[in-house]
Amino acid sequence: MYIIAPSILSADFTRLGQEITDVLAAGADWIHFDVMDNHYVPNLTIGPLVCEAIRPLTTAMIDVHLMVKPVDRIVPDFARAGANIVTFHPEGSEHLDRTLSLIRESGCQAGLVFNPATPLHHMDYVMDKLDVVLLMSVNPGFGGQNFIPATLAKLKAARARIDAYQRESGRPIRLEVDGGVKVDNIAQIARAGADTFVAGSAVYCAGKDTDAHRYDSIIAALRAELATV
Ligand code: DX5
Ligand code: ZN
Repeated sequence: MYIIAPSILSADFTRLGQEITDVLAAGADWIHFDVMDNHYVPNLTIGPLVCEAIRPLTTAMIDVHLMVKPVDRIVPDFARAGANIVTFHPEGSEHLDRTLSLIRESGCQAGLVFNPATPLHHMDYVMDKLDVVLLMSVNPGFGGQNFIPATLAKLKAARARIDAYQRESGRPIRLEVDGGVKVDNIAQIARAGADTFVAGSAVYCAGKDTDAHRYDSIIAALRAELATV
């Protein structure tokens, strides 16, 4: 039921392929792929070419988090590059329903991302087109920031909306959280309603500390915490 999605933003880019293979071998479920454009967020990262390059390494879901504005033009490129899930911020698209449809018609699962101060009402009339709701627990743009505690109450509110929708429709929507997720807070975050956990620095920096870039113990520690929920 719980998904752990390491963010390659904190991976060692000089050995990115191995970093991806290693976290998946250690038991990670998805690869979280952070796309930043130096416009919507003040940082610049990776695009469809890198997604295409890593696609042959795994059949695991590649979870593309678009921190870009505008969104629509780049969606087909990521679909062609092998993305499985594409999420975007409402502030990045003039027409949420159109962008969600575009992502789904491109063959990907679709999701909306909510910044810490972005209200949840953006999901109100598009629940049928959502596969994922992603709550940011930091302001987007950088790895290694601290979890914003107000996210816990917001997760509970999002969980209530998703559960109500699922009771009515029978269709599940994942509730993902992104930013500052660590071994010492993941259980509390799960209790608030998240079922999918992005962890960048928690996973990749732990691996770097071990020298051998081994991720088994950090993934196991995250799962052990989730088992207490
Ligand atoms: C931030 C990104 C996150 C980031 C999380 O804008 O969306 O995915 O990599 O990093 P940590 O887990 O270090 O907060
Ligand atoms: Zn992200």
